[in-house]
Amino acid sequence: NFSNTTSLNAIKTVTVVGGGLMGSGIAQVAAQAGLNVNLIDLKPELLENAQKSIQNNLQRVARKLHKDSPAQIEAFVKDASQRIKVSTNLEDGVQADLVVEAIVEKLDVKQELFNKLDQLCPEHTILASNTSSISINEIGAGIKRKSKFGGLHFFNPVPVMRLLEVIKSEQISEETYQAMMEWGKSVGKTCITCKDTPGFVVNRLLGPYSAEAMRMYERGDATKEDIDIGMKLGAGYPMGPLELSDYTGLDTNKFVLNVLYEKTGNPVFKPIPLLDKLVAEGKLGIKTGEGIYKYKK
Ligand code: NAI
Repeated sequence: NFSNTTSLNAIKTVTVVGGGLMGSGIAQVAAQAGLNVNLIDLKPELLENAQKSIQNNLQRVARKLHKDSPAQIEAFVKDASQRIKVSTNLEDGVQADLVVEAIVEKLDVKQELFNKLDQLCPEHTILASNTSSISINEIGAGIKRKSKFGGLHFFNPVPVMRLLEVIKSEQISEETYQAMMEWGKSVGKTCITCKDTPGFVVNRLLGPYSAEAMRMYERGDATKEDIDIGMKLGAGYPMGPLELSDYTGLDTNKFVLNVLYEKTGNPVFKPIPLLDKLVAEGKLGIKTGEGIYKYKK
């Protein structure tokens, strides 16, 4: 809802490229906030899955908001889902005020997408990446509109987690930066700003913490349960570090630690044999039924 905003750059139409875990969440929060959304992915069945998951999550939000009114619940879900148009053709998404990229975490694939978007989108369109580990400046190296480009790093699950990291690219303009901050607020997030630095704020600090928890467990300093209880009750964290790693996915965890080690050389991010072993065995956490803990299907 942009009725109170002073920005000339009000963002009304958003395109999200990549309808996986993150992209479907980003599309949902934008639609919930009353924006028109295009959601782009490679195959129709991926878009169908995204729509199903958005529908389920909207139901959950609607039930919380309108507890006693089935009619309002239905209207909320209908309104938000109708705002999301899906397509496998990127060109259907280029007429947008903002494009948020949430595709695979691969530099060359992202660069190719941004180069295309840079050519196809109108001049005013802001382009942003949701990458968690790649340098924003490298992703945008080939584009011309460098002043209209930055990072919008959401957290999983997007509809629930309240934070948005707004990443300043080297040549971002003040106007683009302000528009990104305002947009983040308009979709219900609290925004923090970070330079284009490895891991940004949250993952840079979570990395050493989760790595050290894993090493404590590996050494047998304490049981996994006691490590998690310790941090929940002693530090007030809603989840323990090992539970959180299983939730995020141990493969993702390993990947992020590797990138941080490569980019910073800080030994705190060094490979952890136990983590490598679990990932090699396909024990990736909740999504595979077993990680550090075992889960019932
Ligand atoms: P995902 O694998 O669930 O979804 C990626 C989607 O992008 C897939 O549906 C895939 O078909 C689609 N895709 C791939 N290449 C495409 C292309 N060229 N054009 C259109 N669609 C394409 O991955 P996830 O977890 O949603 O991650 C997406 C991005 O978000 C990555 O950059 C990741 O680093 C970042 N991220 C992930 C977080 C997480 O907790 N999973 C947290 C914050 C950021």
